[in-house]
Amino acid sequence: MNVMAAPTESPRPIPWLAERLGWVRRQTLELCRPLTPEDMMVQSCAEASPAKWHLAHTTWFFESFVLREFLDGYRAFNEDFAWLFNSYYQSFSAFPEKRLRSSFSRPGLEEVLRYREHVDAALERLLKAGAAEEALRRIELGVNHEEQHQELLLTDILHAFYTNPLKPTYKDPKDGGQGDEGTREQGGTPPPGLTAFAGGLRETGYAGDGFCYDNERPRHRVWLEPFALSDRLVTCGEYAEFIADGGYRRTELWLSAGWDAVRQNGWRAPLYWSEAEDAWSVFTLRGELRLDEVATAPVSQVSFYEADAYARWAGMRLPTEFEWEAAAEGRAVEGNLLDSGHLTPVRYGAGARGKEGKAPGTQPYGDCWAWTSSAYLGYPGFRPLAGALGEYNGKFMSGQMVLRGGSCVTPARHIRASYRNFFAPETRWQFSGIRLAK
Ligand SMILES: [Fe+2]
Repeated sequence: MNVMAAPTESPRPIPWLAERLGWVRRQTLELCRPLTPEDMMVQSCAEASPAKWHLAHTTWFFESFVLREFLDGYRAFNEDFAWLFNSYYQSFSAFPEKRLRSSFSRPGLEEVLRYREHVDAALERLLKAGAAEEALRRIELGVNHEEQHQELLLTDILHAFYTNPLKPTYKDPKDGGQGDEGTREQGGTPPPGLTAFAGGLRETGYAGDGFCYDNERPRHRVWLEPFALSDRLVTCGEYAEFIADGGYRRTELWLSAGWDAVRQNGWRAPLYWSEAEDAWSVFTLRGELRLDEVATAPVSQVSFYEADAYARWAGMRLPTEFEWEAAAEGRAVEGNLLDSGHLTPVRYGAGARGKEGKAPGTQPYGDCWAWTSSAYLGYPGFRPLAGALGEYNGKFMSGQMVLRGGSCVTPARHIRASYRNFFAPETRWQFSGIRLAK
């Protein structure tokens, strides 16, 4: 997830920002609590980074873009960290190749944690001293940046544990999230209802006065034909029917590049599915689950190509990002997000009804990101931020598809209707799933 912020019109009040900053810095450490120092060094696929690197890089972001520029007399913790923990900001400094991050045995974890403390203390001094408006905007940006890395940290650990022959469990499956077994509602998957939306001229993009990334602006008009959107994501049980019907062997269902990806990678199921004795199981942050245990939970870790092929098989299509946003705008941000503690898509019918009183899972947010059929492009009049920060977003606007809605590892206050995530169409390690449209 490589997203960057557009500045808010006026910065947030300092106490609000201090609370938000404190929460996000503590939460990242909290997510590392179940991990050993060795777990935190694993980088098991090209997309992933070690957890220790996430701890350091999120700190580097505050040091590089806030403290160096805005805190008088700031002394860097270690001058080498300025380039060592840069991810991809070419105009800031040179940086090591991403694939080498697992070789950063030095600095050790203890030193990285001291780096975090050093930067936290400096940020506190800056806020107490009454930071400049631009510094406050950058701190809010850094908070949002770190929330994105919280999601990545868990996504990467899931892959790390999946590749570990011992298949470790990040969270005890008996340690329930909100609305787990105790309050589980009876009843299976709700019928795959479609909600119809009138077409017409609509506005899309961020319209509030708070934080958003630059890629959510400018708000602009789009024309929508009448459409219908599924009330929920496609489930594992439904996806298993696609597999059983030869979905991965039928060329007519696939885009040309998708079929190439199936053949070259040997895909025959979502990333974490495995088959033994004719029964599928799915690896999650809560261990290996039998397909019948997750049959009514949303299918996750599928590529855009698989989502597109499934939609064609089902006689449907993927929504455009503008259709998704039109359907989500004005809806409450609730669902199975990081804060619920499930850390994996949950079965439909599980958990308490939300504020809207709708069946759990039928809100636009949570469980897994929905692939859309929209290519990731700048909106008309898009302008990236000035300077190195402008590299966060605009330079990725080719060869990627937009995803919407957040996942079970997205912090609830990070997501909104206009939020655009984006990945290359063959990407499968994310919590990415399928919502159908017609
Ligand atoms: Fe980053």
